[in-house]
Amino acid sequence: MAETHIESLLKEQRIFPPSPEFSKHAHIHSLEVYDSITKRAAEDPEGYWADIAAELDWFEPWKKVLEWDSPFAKWFVGGKTNIAFNCIDRHLSSATKNKVAILWEGEPGDVRALSYQMLHYEVCRFANVLKSLGIEKGDRATIYMGMVPELAIAMLACARIGVTHNVVFGGFSAEALRDRINDSKSRVLITADGAYRRGAIVPLKKNADEALSGAPSIERVIVYKRTGEPVNMAPPRDLWWHDQVAKMAGVCPAERLEAEHPVFMLYTSGTTGKPKGVVHATGGYMTNVYITTKWVFDLKDEDTFWCSADVGWVTGHSYIVYGPLLNGATSVMYEGAPNYPEPDRFWSIIEKFKVNIFYTAPTAIRSFIKWGDLWPAKHDLSSLRLLGTVGEPINPEAWMWYHKNIGRDRCPIVDTWWQTETGAIMISPIPGALPTKPGSATRPLPGVVVDVVDRQGKSVGTNQGGFLVIKRPWPSMLRTIYGDPERYKKQYWSEIPGMYFTGDGARCDEDGYLWIMGRIDDVINVSGHRIGTMEVESSLVSHPTVAEAAVVGRPDELKGQGIVAFVTLAAGHQAAPALKEELKGHVAKTIGGFAKPDEIRFTDALPKTRSGKIMRRLLRDLASGQATVGDTTTLEDFSVLTKLREEEE
Ligand code: PRX
Repeated sequence: MAETHIESLLKEQRIFPPSPEFSKHAHIHSLEVYDSITKRAAEDPEGYWADIAAELDWFEPWKKVLEWDSPFAKWFVGGKTNIAFNCIDRHLSSATKNKVAILWEGEPGDVRALSYQMLHYEVCRFANVLKSLGIEKGDRATIYMGMVPELAIAMLACARIGVTHNVVFGGFSAEALRDRINDSKSRVLITADGAYRRGAIVPLKKNADEALSGAPSIERVIVYKRTGEPVNMAPPRDLWWHDQVAKMAGVCPAERLEAEHPVFMLYTSGTTGKPKGVVHATGGYMTNVYITTKWVFDLKDEDTFWCSADVGWVTGHSYIVYGPLLNGATSVMYEGAPNYPEPDRFWSIIEKFKVNIFYTAPTAIRSFIKWGDLWPAKHDLSSLRLLGTVGEPINPEAWMWYHKNIGRDRCPIVDTWWQTETGAIMISPIPGALPTKPGSATRPLPGVVVDVVDRQGKSVGTNQGGFLVIKRPWPSMLRTIYGDPERYKKQYWSEIPGMYFTGDGARCDEDGYLWIMGRIDDVINVSGHRIGTMEVESSLVSHPTVAEAAVVGRPDELKGQGIVAFVTLAAGHQAAPALKEELKGHVAKTIGGFAKPDEIRFTDALPKTRSGKIMRRLLRDLASGQATVGDTTTLEDFSVLTKLREEEE
């Protein structure tokens, strides 16, 4: 934990109450109703969560709602269920069976609409493919695909038969994929020949081939044909998706899984070391994601819901696939870039599909602002009734732009705070009940107990900055870090004993509204993607010319944060401009393009404490062009700082 005192400067006065029109039809339509739900959840949290879980289907009821052996939680102990069954089969006995479950648009403009019944058929067939290959309950499957319906089908097929899926974002490089396959010990890799992105093709199978050269746990590779580009197929390991499903029946019973059965794992960046496989459990995740989708997005049967995230991140897991389908909703999925072929692609999709609820990231909103008001203005966005954001703090001016230009001053905005680890939204307005303030995620949802505390775990006062913590277990909390329960304890439950440490700074105002101030650990939030400084440093140091590297974030108008790397070269290497480009390319190759440093600065030495720790605070100040304030007395060698400043000029 770096800083002890967190400065909070943002003061925002504007308040937007929900319109009577919106509230009238909302699930939670007034502050009174909201307060009574919150009160009930506070007084009887287990009863509260049990009632929500009971809205879903269970093969066998649970015996105990929560078993809390701090910091290890088990929810709905003894209960048996299946999340894929709840996402699909639960809807097949009503008219929902013929409702569109996934409404997909490819980047080239092709459209597919899969009804719940069709989704059932495809998921069962693919589950049977996995079974025919001997993949079974307890195994792990890595999924590395673009944004096609088959990605959701693969996830649901795994969940149906109790195979824990590990989706790796299609923007990751071969090396990052290899690490994630190896750490998860996956037996099967599900991928595609390629994916369309901004008019070009992402060579997924080619990357996968590179990854597989060092991934011995993989026995089979199933390849979905999306682009038709020639790819290398290595029999008998590699199989085409279409060849396999063609042989299978469209019926496959859903496994009766323990509530605690791990439904998926997803890698995320932490402060130190390699990415962590965050593990989520079936019953609790399902319950939490189901209710947050319904209440936060005020989701109704007639709504068309679009979350523009990538399924490779947790937002896509929870609010493109599982949350909407658990609610029997129509979920829009778009394959490509927001500015292809023109910067109004999103608005044309909203207009075409008559999207009612739209959920995106502040970084995307900042791009829309940059591209200009004329792009949304060209489109009829009157179908929209609710907007959402997630991934990083939204600055009030971006919030206002979103409200005016996309919401046309009509739509409430839900600023939702959560993490890969929390599984579901934790802090957010309930749009029919709570007035919103631009830039604030408002209050924790019912049943969620958060606080802003100091290092000792003591609540700081109103409007004081501090560490955001969660004080009670919640159903969709991560259960562990895959294969490393000690790291789970250390990372999340030891910084402030007895509380879940989020790694974020926050402030709580006089109305109990929370203002998230961003990460306080060594994690950079680039376009809403958490990137560990350690990972970028390791990547740089793996280059033969680099002796040492220190990576910090600096404010970036578009991306939220940009990456600056301070690099010392190994003896005999020259600090040439071409080498900077080579190093940037090296990071893109070893992690992925989204982690590429914006700037590389060569330096003879890095500022260190006497104990040898890199003083990142100083580098952060330098990187963002600020004067160094605060304590530098622990600096081992002052001349380093002077030199670094000179090198800048
Ligand atoms: O710093 C917070 C920021 O994103 C982090 C979680 O990142 P990740 O696990 O990748 O999940 C992103 C999508 C859920 C948080 O620790 N963050 C997320 N939402 C918000 C946010 N910061 C401010 N406001 C938000 N609404």
